[in-house]
Amino acid sequence: MRVLITGVTGFAGSHLAELALVEGAEVHGTVLPGSPPSADLAPLLARTRLHPCDLTEPGAAARVLGEVRPERVFHLAGLSVVGSSWANRAEVLRVNLEAAFHLLEALRELPAPCLLVSSAEVYGLVDEAAQPIPETAPLRPVSPYALSKACQELYATYYALAERLPIVTVRAFNHIGPRQGPGFVSADIARQVAAVEAGQAPPVLAVGNTAARRDFTDVRDMVRAYWLALEKGLPGEVYNAASGTAVTIREVVEIFLSLARVPIEVREDPARFRPVDLPLLLGDAGKLRAATGWAPAIPLRTSLADTLADWCRRV
Ligand code: GDD
Repeated sequence: MRVLITGVTGFAGSHLAELALVEGAEVHGTVLPGSPPSADLAPLLARTRLHPCDLTEPGAAARVLGEVRPERVFHLAGLSVVGSSWANRAEVLRVNLEAAFHLLEALRELPAPCLLVSSAEVYGLVDEAAQPIPETAPLRPVSPYALSKACQELYATYYALAERLPIVTVRAFNHIGPRQGPGFVSADIARQVAAVEAGQAPPVLAVGNTAARRDFTDVRDMVRAYWLALEKGLPGEVYNAASGTAVTIREVVEIFLSLARVPIEVREDPARFRPVDLPLLLGDAGKLRAATGWAPAIPLRTSLADTLADWCRRV
């Protein structure tokens, strides 16, 4: 089977490509021109066909679909850092919406089952009593990034209902692991710990809001959710992908400190706090589990240890 993964050299995209290869697929992926993939992706990219393409350019998605004729499409390309999305709001909205629009328009001409990866961020501020959050909760985005994902979902709804495209949407809760870039909490912490261990920085860890609670899933489990959702999910439906357990960022910091080979002092950095932060994001993935049998398998400590090992190689 031929699959097309947009953003194949990105964090989740690269892990999804590895899974697709294990599943026996012929893997094609788009990569943004001018963003060279990191060297550690070389073994993966030797087995993946890359299509340089800026999806926000009219006609680019149609050209790639015409070249690949994919039997499944996974749309992962886009801007995904929440924390910087207030400062970059115009770019986040432009890139995420134009890319989705052009891809969906191209799929109207060459239809194939398509997975849209959305985000738990679309739920916004949800009362603790109403969590774990089911898919039926209203979309009330409170960050520009979340707004872009909620708008993408409306596009998917239109193309599924009005244009009858077979689109499945997954609302991914937080996912972490090797290859995640800076701007996400566990990568930001792991990068600093690795720099301290390498003697490149004083033994101080800068953190933002550590009282927030998040529902973390290893990226390798998350991409399995994407694969299964498109294989077994119903077109037009939305599925949460989440572990069902929330931990504080403070607990994440504690695990990293216990993994570190040297003592490190933790300091709050006001620049790392957000204009609006979600105190708790905890997901109910019962619908995905019922449809596909998916369950995450990798424990949080393993994900964090693998993330730290990855940053120790990178710094
Ligand atoms: N990034 C970052 N860096 N976050 C920090 C830091 C820090 O140094 N210190 C504390 N935090 C807090 C944030 O304020 C937030 O409450 C929490 O850690 C998680 O932040 P992120 O890792 O940036 O993730 P997110 O929850 O905002 O968004 C992630 O999950 C979404 C799905 O739930 C991203 O992966 C999104 O792309 C994804 O859609």
